[in-house]
Amino acid sequence: MSSTEAAVPRHATITIEGTNKSATLPLLSGTLGPQVADIRKLQAQAGIFTFDPGYGETASCESKITYIDGDEGVLLYRGYPIDQLAEKSTFLEVAYLLMYGDLPNNAEFETFNRGITMHTMLHEQIRRFWEGFRRDAHPMAVLCGVVGAMSAFYPDSIKINDAHEREVSAFRLIAKLPTITAWAYKYSIGQPFMYPRNDLSYAENFLYMMNSVPAEPYRKNPILERAMDRILILHADHEQNASTSTVRLAGSTGANPFACIAAGIAALWGPAHGGANEAVLKMLGEIGDKKNIPAFISEVKDKNSHTKLMGFGHRVYKNFDPRAKIMQQTCYEVLDELGIKNEPLLDLAMELEKIALDDEYFVSRKLYPNVDFYSGIILKAMGFPTTMFTPLFALARTTGWISQWMEMIEDPQQRIGRPRQLYTGAPKRDYVAIGGRE
Ligand code: CMC
Repeated sequence: MSSTEAAVPRHATITIEGTNKSATLPLLSGTLGPQVADIRKLQAQAGIFTFDPGYGETASCESKITYIDGDEGVLLYRGYPIDQLAEKSTFLEVAYLLMYGDLPNNAEFETFNRGITMHTMLHEQIRRFWEGFRRDAHPMAVLCGVVGAMSAFYPDSIKINDAHEREVSAFRLIAKLPTITAWAYKYSIGQPFMYPRNDLSYAENFLYMMNSVPAEPYRKNPILERAMDRILILHADHEQNASTSTVRLAGSTGANPFACIAAGIAALWGPAHGGANEAVLKMLGEIGDKKNIPAFISEVKDKNSHTKLMGFGHRVYKNFDPRAKIMQQTCYEVLDELGIKNEPLLDLAMELEKIALDDEYFVSRKLYPNVDFYSGIILKAMGFPTTMFTPLFALARTTGWISQWMEMIEDPQQRIGRPRQLYTGAPKRDYVAIGGRE
C-alpha cells in the first residue's frame, strides 16, 4: 500500500452484550460499492444469525454482471453505463455482453447471432399446448407454463454441469421467448401464430410476430424497432432483484434452466415488480382526469388505503432511476413517430409526476419515477394491450436471468440457498387428544 492510500478496513467485530462471545467478520471489497461483512462464520463464532426480511442489507452472492448505485442513479452492465448501451448498442449485443462479460467483435457477434436465430422456432408439439389454455388466460400464466414445460422437450438441459448444455439452453431461452410471448398474444386475440423470421433483427422479429398477419405484407418501422430494442436493453438485467434471486434460488438446488426461468417469470408477475407497468396504466385509467389527481394523491398518502403511486419508488434507486430518463425520451420519440399529439394518458402521467415530485411525502421518502412509469405509455402507444407489458419485461429479462444462472452454476462458492428464520411460533408442546382440549 502506498503512503497516500487510505487503509481499507479488513474486519468488523461483533460482540454479544453480557457474554464473552464475539465474532470477527472479514470485510470483503468488490470493484465498486460498499464493503460487505462476511457473516459465514458468525453463528459458529458468536451463536447468532442475522435478521434481514427482504434481504435489503444482504449480499446473497458474488456477481460480475450488473452494478447499481441507487443513490447516484447508476446502472452498469458489465461496467458499461446503461445510457451508452441504450443509445449505441443493440439488444443481442447486450445479451452477449451479459452472458460472456465483454462486448463481441464482429466474428463473435456473427456466431452468437446465428446461434440465437437457429433456435427461434418452437418444437411443433409445444404449439399444441395453447389449445389447453383459455383464450382469456393472462399471458404471464402462458409464459410460466410453456417455459417450464420446455424442459420436457430438451431433457439434456438437466446436465447443468455441462457447459455446452448450459449454453444451448441459454440460446434456446433467449431465442424462443419472443415466439412464446407473441403467440401468447396472438392466441388471446384469435389470430394465426406467426412463425419467426430470422432475416429480421431480434426486436423486429418480435414486432413482426406480434403485429403481422399472413394476409397482409409486413411493414417495417425502424423507429418502433429501435424503441423496442431499447426497451429490451433497459429491462435486460437488474442485479439481484426478486425474480433474479428467485432464478438463483431455484437454480441453487440443481434444477434445470427452463424450470428456473419459469420460477423467475412467476416472481416477475407481481405488481411490486414486473407487473408495475401494467398497474401504472390501470392506475392512470382509474384516475381518468387531471382534476382527480389531488384526491388520488391524498389516497396514496393515507396509510390505511394501501394505494400506491404505481411506477414510483424503488427498492434500490433512492435518487432517480436512470432507466426512467431514457424511457421518457423514447416515449416522446414513439409518440412523435406515431403522430400521437395529445395523448391524454401521457398528459395525466406528466401532471401526476410533476405533483408527486413537489410533494413532501414523495420527496422525503425519495420516491421518483421508475422505468415502469413510462414504459407502459410507450407500449400502449405501440399497440400492446396492458396484459402484454409484463410478458415483454420477462422476454427482456430472460437474458439477465440466464446470465445470472450461468454465473451461479460456475461459482465455486455456490451452495443451495437456504435462509434462516426468527421463529416466533409456539414453543415445544405435547399433543393432547381431541377430547382433552379446551
Ligand atoms: N407510492 C406511495 N408510497 C410509497 C411508494 C409508492 N409507489 N413506494 C414506497 N412508498 C412509501 C412506503 O409506503 C414507505 O412509507 P413509510 O416510510 O411511511 O412507511 C416508504 O415509501 C418506503 O417504502 P418501502 O416500502 O420501504 O420501499 P421498498 O423499497 O420496500 O419498496 C417498491 C419498493 C418498488 C416495492 C415500492 O416503491 C412500490 O411498491 N412501488 C410501486 C410499484 C412499482 O412501481 N414497482 C416497480 C419497481 S421498478 C421495476 C422493477 O425493477 O421491478
